[in-house]
Amino acid sequence: LFARESEFVKGVVAMSGLPPADRVEICFAGRSNVGKSTLINALTGTKALARASNMPGRTQEINFFTQGPDLYLVDLPGYGFANAPLPVVEKWQRLLKQYLSGRQTLRRAFVLIDARHGVKPVDAEILSLLDSAAVTFQCVLTKTDKVKAKDRDRVLAQVRTALAKHPAAYPEIVLTSSEKGDGIATLRAIIAGLI
Ligand code: GTP
Ligand code: MG
Repeated sequence: LFARESEFVKGVVAMSGLPPADRVEICFAGRSNVGKSTLINALTGTKALARASNMPGRTQEINFFTQGPDLYLVDLPGYGFANAPLPVVEKWQRLLKQYLSGRQTLRRAFVLIDARHGVKPVDAEILSLLDSAAVTFQCVLTKTDKVKAKDRDRVLAQVRTALAKHPAAYPEIVLTSSEKGDGIATLRAIIAGLI
């Protein structure tokens, strides 16, 4: 699946702009700066397909990428970023919620959690939204290269405990480092299994 080239389709700012729901879709959600765009670049083997940046709030649209003919990869705007003007933040939040709860072909949401920080209240809010929308989600720990194994394991336990409260959670947590390439093959295999 990932041997094919990934292509950018479009950036969407309103539900009316979504591309036709004609294939399996998976999305990447998570707090601003957690590493969503970087992970998509690592998965697709490209350096700059999805625009990554150390400026939180870089991705402001819902970005659609094809991966082969049967799959959309979706890069979502980050949440929990307070530094943008409130009306702008509220607009993203609304769109994010509409998308996560209203997209028929959304097969799984990967919710990215920073390996240094664990599940924060804003994450828990998204997880509950996915529960109510009955969208299966799976947590991915990002930036594992930035923590010591001991601290990572403590965060992992915190994430496990948090997931136990969410019926839509898929129990396996994927540990990744886009920097080192750790977990990328595992995640590709999981995604391939969803088609
Ligand atoms: P928004 O679009 O603002 O929501 O952010 P995002 O979640 O798309 O984050 P992005 O991919 O832009 O990454 C944010 C920063 O984290 C960038 O400087 C990345 O280089 C860095 N980063 C992402 N993944 C990793 C990782 O696995 N390890 C390390 N060390 N840095 C990472
Ligand atoms: Mg981004």
